[in-house]
Amino acid sequence: MNSFRTIDDVDVAGRRVLVRVDLNVPVRDGEVTDLTRIERIAPTIRELSDLGGQVIMLAHFGRPKGERKSDLSLKPVAGAVEKVIGRPVAFVGDCVGDKAEAAADALSNGDILLFENTRFHAGEEKNDPRLAKEMARIGDLYVNDAFSCAHRAHVSTEGLTHHLPSVAGRCMQAELEALEGALADPERPAAALVGGAKVSTKLDVLTNLMSKVDLLIIGGAMANTFLLAKGVEIGTSLAEPDLVATAQKILAEAETRNCRIILPVDAVVADKLEQGADAAIVAVDAVPADRMILDVGPKSIAAVVAELENCRTLMWNGPMGAFEFPPFDKATVAVAQAAARLTKAGTLNSVAGGGDTVAALNHAGVADDFSYVSTAGGAFLEWIEGKSLPGVAALSN
Ligand code: 3PG
Repeated sequence: MNSFRTIDDVDVAGRRVLVRVDLNVPVRDGEVTDLTRIERIAPTIRELSDLGGQVIMLAHFGRPKGERKSDLSLKPVAGAVEKVIGRPVAFVGDCVGDKAEAAADALSNGDILLFENTRFHAGEEKNDPRLAKEMARIGDLYVNDAFSCAHRAHVSTEGLTHHLPSVAGRCMQAELEALEGALADPERPAAALVGGAKVSTKLDVLTNLMSKVDLLIIGGAMANTFLLAKGVEIGTSLAEPDLVATAQKILAEAETRNCRIILPVDAVVADKLEQGADAAIVAVDAVPADRMILDVGPKSIAAVVAELENCRTLMWNGPMGAFEFPPFDKATVAVAQAAARLTKAGTLNSVAGGGDTVAALNHAGVADDFSYVSTAGGAFLEWIEGKSLPGVAALSN
């Protein structure tokens, strides 16, 4: 049984359903350039409409800070939403007040509306109870389908739950089931792969993950700080020398928790971070003083892949190297493809998310082959830090 309520727990027919979705999508020249987030919420919207609900989508777009900014209107996104959902979606230029209420009054069962950017109202981000009350008046029921916004305690993500029966939509449900499956009670051995540039942004992630998994694979420039902590010379590599003591503490703590930390044993080095730069492979203890580590080397890749062959669960956050600048994408691509292969073979439950991770998996051509790829950035990170997300907590049983 789920620890949260879902659409299965409520009657939708003939009711006005306020659905929080994440439409914070990339837009260039008025066109949505990545439809993933819209595709993820489409099943919920169609289901609510099919059940006879009067569907009203609430979403934010960018950070207008309580002001009405025409370049941050959701209007250009409405067309893409309509196309993906495959049904008419009417756009309304506000999310509270006379205009919004009149549009909601005119709805028939099955109709779908999209309200204007909730962040045009200063009360949204302040979780102002008056705004929550005013918005709640428009609906009979609240469905939160925006896991990727659940780390925000805003009116549309948390405040409404104090006024309306509140449940998770299908996208929220899928995110929570995937993340709980990979971290709360993972099939073992369980591994986490954490990459990216900075240890400082992932301290809580590393500390939380080492208490959940058997194996912590550290890649990206983050690994350089750990190599420094082990007394390895890393040339001109990006690192955070002031975090060496913290990295040493993490290494010691992992040992007491029986979590093995895997660091690179070899590296791809160059004199500059540039596409096509002249690259060489060296052992990590032989990095020339004038070279920087830009990717994990082939021996390390083989070691990581061998570990994954024995694992049943993988939680992936962050790239292994500077994958945006080939040839420094090799480790990210090779390990992602190995994880995808093991997932397809049925031996690995692979869950990925957060920031650059989705771009890295897309670059490797395997985003569709993982068990689950989260659409969330900041919310995913806070989840794997072990934090309670206000938007999720408000839905729990
Ligand atoms: C995101 O894009 O990660 C979410 O939509 C949250 O956006 P925010 O960081 O502006 O709250």
